[in-house]
Parts: sequence; structure tokens; C-alpha cells
Amino acid sequence: MTSSTPVLQISGLTKHYGGVKALTDAGFSLMPGEHAAIVGDNGAGKSTFVRLITGAESPNAGDIRLDGRKVSFASPLDAREQGIETVYQTLALAEDLDVPANIFLGREITRLNLGPLSILNHKAMRERSTAMLSTTGVKIQDMSESLRGMSGGQRQCVAIARAAGFAKKLIILDEPTAALGVAETARVEQIIKGLKQQGIALIIVSHNLRQVFELADRVWVFRQGRIICQRLTSQTHPEEIVGLITGAIDPASLPSEAALVC
Ligand SMILES: Nc1ncnc2c1ncn2[C@@H]1O[C@H](COP(=O)(O)OP(=O)(O)O)[C@@H](O)[C@H]1O
Ligand SMILES: [Mg+2]
Repeated sequence: MTSSTPVLQISGLTKHYGGVKALTDAGFSLMPGEHAAIVGDNGAGKSTFVRLITGAESPNAGDIRLDGRKVSFASPLDAREQGIETVYQTLALAEDLDVPANIFLGREITRLNLGPLSILNHKAMRERSTAMLSTTGVKIQDMSESLRGMSGGQRQCVAIARAAGFAKKLIILDEPTAALGVAETARVEQIIKGLKQQGIALIIVSHNLRQVFELADRVWVFRQGRIICQRLTSQTHPEEIVGLITGAIDPASLPSEAALVC
């Protein structure tokens, strides 16, 4: 494996639900440390793509390669174990548990491993949670409080800190700020910029073009169940991306670098 091997490389990825062609022959690639944005109108196939590369569903056809190695995911847990962490718009966090319990949900640290009778190592989980949150700059006053009293932004920060702490290969964020206010969105964007500095590869699905241009190196445009082109954000502009999303601009009219290279 060399540094020119993509972290994630996808070809021919296809998912049809009966007659609905949610995704057809999708090609995609992501280099180490790269932050990519996925854009497209409602129904363009973005969430389907995310579900296929995070093990939530299986494709009808296509290849997924992680660090050059062909993989298939039996479940989201399987994808996590192979290094892919996902943060969804609707959070998979437990309201009644505190921050460390949420961060280690499903992968608790034990002092004594006796299956269902295991003794949890709360101290180790609290310490590692504090360390994970501090790398994201998130401050939680009282780690032993349940998530119930926290704002949407604080919870999203916990979810991203958890993903960042465990991601071995890449983090996928599906509309991470769609439900957040302006200040909370800014906080989450700061965290994403921190992940860029740490060299963690990331894919973000977003409707917010300001956010896309601020955070992403490259943008992939989905339209009617296909990935129609990719552009470096430094070589395009929001109007062009809007034109590609709506169909007003034909991707064939773009410079050849925009073509899919997967
Ligand atoms: N489980 C499903 N069953 C049937 N159709 C689906 C299912 N999931 C998605 N679709 C359809 O696939 C298309 C792509 O959906 P989706 O991936 O959710 O788009 P996006 O996230 O870009 O809005 C839409 O036409 C949607 O209605
Ligand atoms: Mg979606």
C-alpha cells in the first residue's frame, strides 16, 4: 500500500429497490486524509450510497475497496470493526446514559470479561472519553450527567468525538448539522476542520454549499441515482455545483478532470 492508494475506492455500486433505481453504477474514490462532500437533490441516492458503504444495506452489484482491499460488510458493526465510523442526522445515542456510556456503547471496556456478567471499567471509560472529547475541543461540564439535558449541538459533538475516537480509516457524516442552529453548526464545523488537521479521511453529505466549500477538498455530485461528476472545490464554485445538481449544467461540458476516474 502506498500513499497513492485510495482509502476508499468504489466502482459499479448499484442498489435497486424493485423498480426504484436508488443508485446505479456509482464510482467514487477518497484519498488518505481527504475530506469529500456529497451533494445532490432529495432522492438523488446519497443516503443509499452511505447505507451501502457503512454496512447498513448490501448492494446488488459493485466493488468496495478499503486501502485497496476488497471488502463486504455484513452489518454496520462489521463496517465499524473494519474502520468506518458513521454519524447520522438522527443520532444513535442513548438519552438516559451519560457521555462515557454513550461513547462506549457496544464496545464497553471491562475489568473482568464474563460475558453478560462482565464488570465494566467505568474509570477507564471516563478517562478515555475525556481524552476523546478534548481532541475535538468539546467541553462537557459533568460527564456523569445523562444526555437528556444536552443541546442538539452538544450531542452531535459527542457523536462526532466518538466516531473520531474509534475511526481507523474514515468517518462518514450524513447531514450532521441539518437539525442544528447557527452556533452549534459552527462548533461541529470546527471539529471537522480539526479532523482534517489530524489527517482523518472524511465524507460529509450536506445540502449547505457554504459548508461544502468551507470544509471539503472535493465535491461529488449525485443526480437521479447516479454519481455524475466530481470537482475539486478549489476549481469550481457554488453556481456550477447548483447547475450540476439541477441538471442545468451538463457534466460533459466540464473540463476532463471532472470526469469520474474510478
Ligand atoms: N428502502 C427503500 N425502498 C424503496 N425505495 C427507496 C428506499 N430507500 C430509498 N429509496 C428510494 O431511492 C431513491 C434514493 O433515495 P435516497 O438515497 O434516500 O436519496 P437522498 O439521500 O439523496 O435524498 C429515492 O427515490 C428513494 O425514494
Ligand atoms: Mg438522504
